[in-house]
Amino acid sequence: MCGIVGYIGRQDATPILMEGLHRLEYRGYDSAGVAVARGGELRLYKSQGKVRELERLLPKSLKGSPGIAHTRWATHGEPSERNAHPHTDSSNRYAIVHNGIIENAAALRAQLSAKGVQFRSDTDSEVLAHLIAMMDGERLQDAVRAALQLVQGAYGLAVLDAHRPEALVVARHGSPVILGIGEHEMFVASDSAALVGHTRSVVHLDDGEIAVLHADRYETATLEGGATVKVPLALEWDGQALGKGEFAHYMHKEMLEQPEAIRRTLGGRLERRFATTHLGGLEIAARELLEIRRIKILGCGSAYLAGCVGAQLIEQLARVPAHAEPASEFRYRNPVIEADTLYIAVSQSGETFDTLAAVQEVTRKGGRVLGIVNVVGSAIARACGRGIYLHAGPEIAVVATKTFTCTAVAFALLAIHLGRLRDLSSANGARLIAALEALPEQVAEVLAAEAPVDAVAREVANCQSMFFVGRAAGHAVAMEGALKLKEVSYLHAEAYPASELKHGPLALIDAHTPTMMVLPRDALFEKNLSTIEEIRARRGPIYVVTQPGPLPAGVRGALQVPASEPELDAVLLNIPLQLLAYRVACTRGTEVDQPRNLAKSVTVE
Ligand code: G6P
Repeated sequence: MCGIVGYIGRQDATPILMEGLHRLEYRGYDSAGVAVARGGELRLYKSQGKVRELERLLPKSLKGSPGIAHTRWATHGEPSERNAHPHTDSSNRYAIVHNGIIENAAALRAQLSAKGVQFRSDTDSEVLAHLIAMMDGERLQDAVRAALQLVQGAYGLAVLDAHRPEALVVARHGSPVILGIGEHEMFVASDSAALVGHTRSVVHLDDGEIAVLHADRYETATLEGGATVKVPLALEWDGQALGKGEFAHYMHKEMLEQPEAIRRTLGGRLERRFATTHLGGLEIAARELLEIRRIKILGCGSAYLAGCVGAQLIEQLARVPAHAEPASEFRYRNPVIEADTLYIAVSQSGETFDTLAAVQEVTRKGGRVLGIVNVVGSAIARACGRGIYLHAGPEIAVVATKTFTCTAVAFALLAIHLGRLRDLSSANGARLIAALEALPEQVAEVLAAEAPVDAVAREVANCQSMFFVGRAAGHAVAMEGALKLKEVSYLHAEAYPASELKHGPLALIDAHTPTMMVLPRDALFEKNLSTIEEIRARRGPIYVVTQPGPLPAGVRGALQVPASEPELDAVLLNIPLQLLAYRVACTRGTEVDQPRNLAKSVTVE
């Protein structure tokens, strides 16, 4: 992991590479480096820490092209300058940047050491540079191809040869590589965010593909040598969407973008005439959808929790049994794949390795899978081949906010679609479509109400631990609320089904342990009041997120959302909990956009 940027063309590579590294900072990293070819030599600079520290090291004018650059997230070897990429061979002629993990690195290191190679880092990646140097053939791509035959594991790789500056070679197996097609110049990146502003035409490499980039053309082929044909895609995002604007944090900006993001998720998908939804990317005929007896939703982190909301929506509206499971668990437990089950993979980035592996497990066993994904053309979207794009726009903060909301909205669209094929009446379909249309305005209203959130944030910011409880879809909201708080403010938070509190965790409730109750005014309202009484009896401070109406006795603070149709409650009730996590994080002074130890998308096991 983490970020790769490359450039070949008439311009000097360094400013383009450094801008690209800045664009990839959001993914999390601990060191950075750049290598540029000039006059048959490599010019190489690396540093621990932030990209701006690397910038301080660079000479005023570092000329040359092509060049490659990297931000590293330590896996093998500590974060340090020596372990930062690019890595070179012993003669400093070849430079490589690598995302992924070389699983047989120890064995390859031993073989190379026996041949006299002196290693200069503790990384698995360095073996690639030495192997490529040893394979040196007539063309750089032949050497790279031969070296990769010896390697087991995952890689997104870019290779530079200072003696042959007319080409850059890149390869992909399990870790994303995207080519950016320019006018007499080519770009490469592990994330399309680094390409924004340079080109709108991109090509995603598939696993097992290698590409040779020249300034004015590119060729792709399989590792075995057969040419492949790629159709460039248009990049959805522009530079403005990637900027932080006047906001202190991307998280804040992205929360406030939610009304607009929801509008884009809904765009063109509401079919009022038949009180249903139109999902062009599903590509499953109505008859086939009717044969589905079960739905299994797979994702990681917030994507999994959005799937929990989705499962509730599908069960309620379509009366099809639906269940969400972390993709990371599913893929390792030899799951039974059923012919009449529809599998749904959820991923903002479309790159999360565990989710991709789960999709591959399902398709290998003959199951049908569709994706709910934000990034167009990403690995999971392509592996699924069909599904629903969120169109939420780029999400730069590590923690998911607008994509959680838009995923829940996409599930609502799907649930209405499935429901209307079954027993959901047209009156109910119309009721839900009207509620979806009202949602952006309602979310904007919630986002504007900052004062109550601030008041609760001040009260809980210094506690040791906090509970989030709810029932049914409210439990999924509680789980996401607790996850958000943990991720961004480092405050311990635990989510529990409200019904289960008395079966154990109640032992932990005392005057110093606040509870946030997700309290929709629905059929389970009275049940939730009993839970509140249980907490009050142990002197636990209680806060609620709820709709307008009289508050239960003893509640210390309330966050309010407007009333919607009960099926959509989860979408609205989650928003104040995002704001709460953000405010607590600001009070505690954490690194909001890049929380410690977390990466935006985990592309390794
Ligand atoms: C990482 C991030 C989480 C995210 C999860 C799934 O763990 O830190 O915020 O929810 O990946 O990411 P995806 O891109 O698949 O939605």
